[in-house]
Formats: sequence, structure tokens, C-alpha cells
Amino acid sequence: MYPAVSRPILATGLAGLGEVIQTDRDSGDFRCDLSDHRLVDKSLHRVRPDVVVHPAAWTAVDRAEDEPETAMRVNRDLPGWLAGWCREHDALLIHFSTDYVFSGPHDRPWREDDDPAPGNVYGRSKLESERLIQASGARAVVLRTAWLYSHFPGNFLSAILTRAERGHSLKVVSDQIGSPTWAGHLAEACCRVIVEQQRLPALYNLFHVAGRGQLSWYEFARMAVERAVEFGVLDQPVQVEPIESAHWPQKARRPVWSVLDCERFEALFDTRLPSVEQGLVECLEKWKNALC
Ligand SMILES: NC(=O)c1ccc[n+]([C@@H]2O[C@H](COP(=O)([O-])OP(=O)(O)OC[C@H]3O[C@@H](n4cnc5c(N)ncnc54)[C@H](OP(=O)(O)O)[C@@H]3O)[C@@H](O)[C@H]2O)c1
Repeated sequence: MYPAVSRPILATGLAGLGEVIQTDRDSGDFRCDLSDHRLVDKSLHRVRPDVVVHPAAWTAVDRAEDEPETAMRVNRDLPGWLAGWCREHDALLIHFSTDYVFSGPHDRPWREDDDPAPGNVYGRSKLESERLIQASGARAVVLRTAWLYSHFPGNFLSAILTRAERGHSLKVVSDQIGSPTWAGHLAEACCRVIVEQQRLPALYNLFHVAGRGQLSWYEFARMAVERAVEFGVLDQPVQVEPIESAHWPQKARRPVWSVLDCERFEALFDTRLPSVEQGLVECLEKWKNALC
């Protein structure tokens, strides 16, 4: 089940591991509204997967404040059903959660065993999904990630570079700090979990997986514009100005500090997750190739 930001990237990675059956609202091998428990159940019984990868979510963070029932149904109830199915059929569930389970501030990057305290409905719905999965008794891995971007439309990077391409200057929030993560690196981590699942220490496993480093949205935007010019993705640089969150009103409160400590994943899988800059470079390479 693939989301828009990471869909093709995750699909490519998973395809190398075995037969992949995709489900989507309007296309793919199984068309299915994932908020319909009956349809989800029917699809699972037809496919009988060994592994269920579940990155789909209701990610409209501001709308979730006004429509909490929808957010809860997709982000909390659906992962709960999937976990129940996986437990009954001994399948491995891989679920994606968010840095928005934290709201900060904090004096160091958040670890998996830090107490979450979401500051908005979306973050609460994802935290509740984690808890339902943990309580289900399924074999499950939750990958908490942050500030996900790719060269496909519908994310922060594509939004700012599209604006910059048109020659518009950018005003970007400088008082929220996080770990921008390229969807390609998250997909690699997900594949690694599947291939090396014998390393998993418990039935329920929670990992932070994000770009290594800590930046504000403003710093990330500056880096992105600078690098996009070097890569020929942008013809010319545009001005990037910092602004405070208070001057960019949004319905849902965002975390001021949501940097994730990924040491647990790195230690278990004997790896070092790529830096934010490395993620940006690899993403811009994809972007450039897509332009050719
Ligand atoms: N984006 C981030 O910065 C970020 C940060 C941390 C964690 N995450 C988590 O990472 C995962 C991937 O995020 P993303 O940003 O790549 O997601 P996304 O681009 O917003 O995509 C979400 C996908 O879920 C699908 N979906 C939602 N409700 C559905 C339903 N009822 N039936 C069928 N499909 C449905 C959407 O389809 P439609 O387009 O048809 O609605 C869309 O393809 C999510 O679990 C998210 O919570 C994201």
C-alpha cells in the first residue's frame, strides 16, 4: 500500500525482494478504499501476503484538526485492523509513523523510549496506531520518520523548488527544527528490515529512521535551492528568507523540535543512515534524471 510522496520509490525497492501486490484508492493491482475494513479484509484474504507494508495515511495535518474522526479511522483504526490480520496469519507488518508524536522542546534528539506528547490530531492518531499495533501481538515494525520528501509532487521540497522555478522568492519557517528524510533512504531502510527480519529482537519493534542531522525548514530550503542550482534543476537561485512560525499561521500546532535519534536502527542493522545532505543530493539526481 503506497503513498504518493514515496510510492514509486518504495515500489521499486520492494520489487527487488519478491512479488509485490499494490493497493491504491483508484489504481494498482487492488483498488480499495482503505477506510473500509471489509474491503481491506477481502483484499488481504485474496493475496495472503507474507509482509504487509503500510505507509498510506491521512496526512492532511491541518484538516485533521477539523475532521478528527476521518484521521483516526485511517491513521489509527486501519493499522489496528492490519495488525490483527497479521497476527492471525503470521505476517510481518511494517507501519510508518511520525516525528509529530513529539511536540518538544527537548535538549537532544528524541529516542524511541522518550515519552511522546503529540501536539495535534494527526500526531495523536499516529501515536494511537503505534499503541494498537503494539497491543495486537502481531510481528510488527514501526518506522517513525520525519519531514519526508521526494522528487514527486506533494511535499515540501517539490513545493519550494516549483515556486523557485517560477522565480518567486521563498519565506520559510526558521523556528521548527527536524530531520528531513529522503523517501529513497526510508525505502532502503524498509527493505533492509524485510531482508534482515531475523535480527528483530521482539514481536513489536519501534525504530526512528530519518536523515542524519538537524535543520530548520529555512536551512533546508536554503540548502535545497543552492544544491538545485548546482544540479541544474533550477536555472537561478532565489532569495530565501526566514520567518517565525507565528507569521505562518497553521491550524495544527507543529513540533518546535522533532529531531530523531536513529541509533537503535543503526546499531541493530549495523549501518549508518545517510545525512540530510546526502538525501538531498540523491533526490536531486533523481529529479535531474526525470527532467532529461
Ligand atoms: N510526509 C511526511 O513528512 C511524513 C513525516 C513522517 C511520517 N510520515 C508518514 O509516512 C507515511 C508516508 O507519508 P507520505 O507523506 O508519503 O504520504 P502521502 O504522500 O500523503 O500519501 C498518503 C497516501 O495514502 C493514501 N490514502 C489515504 N487514505 C486512503 C484511503 N482511505 N484509501 C486509500 N488510500 C488512502 C493516499 O491516497 P489519496 O491520495 O488517494 O488520498 C496517498 O496515496 C505515512 O504513514 C505518514 O504518516 C510522513
